[in-house]
Amino acid sequence: MGAGMARLVTRLERLPLLDSVADRARKLVRAALGSQRVRDVLHGVWLGHPLHPALVQMPIGAWLSAAVLDVLPGQRTAATALIGVGTAGALPAVVTGANDWASLSREQRRVGLVHAGTNTVALALYGASLTARLRGRHTMGRGLGYLGLAVVGAGAYLGGHLSYSLGAGVNQAVPGLWLMRGTWQRVGAVEEFSQGEPAVRKLGGTPVLVYREADRFTVLLERCAHHNGPLSDGTIVEIDGDSCVVCPWHGSTYRLRDGLVVHGPAANDQITLRTRVVEGQLEASPV
Ligand code: FES
Repeated sequence: MGAGMARLVTRLERLPLLDSVADRARKLVRAALGSQRVRDVLHGVWLGHPLHPALVQMPIGAWLSAAVLDVLPGQRTAATALIGVGTAGALPAVVTGANDWASLSREQRRVGLVHAGTNTVALALYGASLTARLRGRHTMGRGLGYLGLAVVGAGAYLGGHLSYSLGAGVNQAVPGLWLMRGTWQRVGAVEEFSQGEPAVRKLGGTPVLVYREADRFTVLLERCAHHNGPLSDGTIVEIDGDSCVVCPWHGSTYRLRDGLVVHGPAANDQITLRTRVVEGQLEASPV
């Protein structure tokens, strides 16, 4: 069954039929969510981690607990309360998910669209379950709840596929770190690096961005944490007195002196290496 599901989802990834709907939905999401500041909050830039995966715990936990209470005697009121909490708690998860989805790649957006559609059906089923329970129709409410749980399980499968198979929301720059063998590696002579001008070098085949501020050096992975965009082709801007690099692909912005993410869609900081200067040579270490 697992292999069959995986094959089905792989077909979804390759289904251009979904693109026209996805493109229209993406425009709507972007227009509805408005400013960069709002989108940053929803991506989880302030948290240093994507916000959506944290928020989905609330509805899933509440709905799952309600399903357990539904098989126990005398727990109608508690189960109804949990269905209500889960249904209300799903709304922030929907908004943050839509915001993340709008910045995904085309293949990821196809799967994400079906993930969103599945969860919308689940949410509607739980809304109907809550209404039935509040009207005293508990048997129907329970049935709708179990149906909702099955649909939300399918949505969770697709969400897991998006993250673990397609890499949505994960730090894409990390694999570059694993390619660097050993500890301290020579980056170059300190005089090779000019003040305030990022330079690209390779460490064990992995490109890094070197930034110098007076005698302080920062060595960041050069591939963007969001989708591996080349930060060396990015634009340098000043934000609150700090030099930052703007990724040329989707605009994630990182502070050069420490890799802090300033604007999304990336929610992870850009990975920096440890640095030291030995006899005029800049060295960096991934560990
Ligand atoms: S690759 Fe998407 S913002 Fe850099």
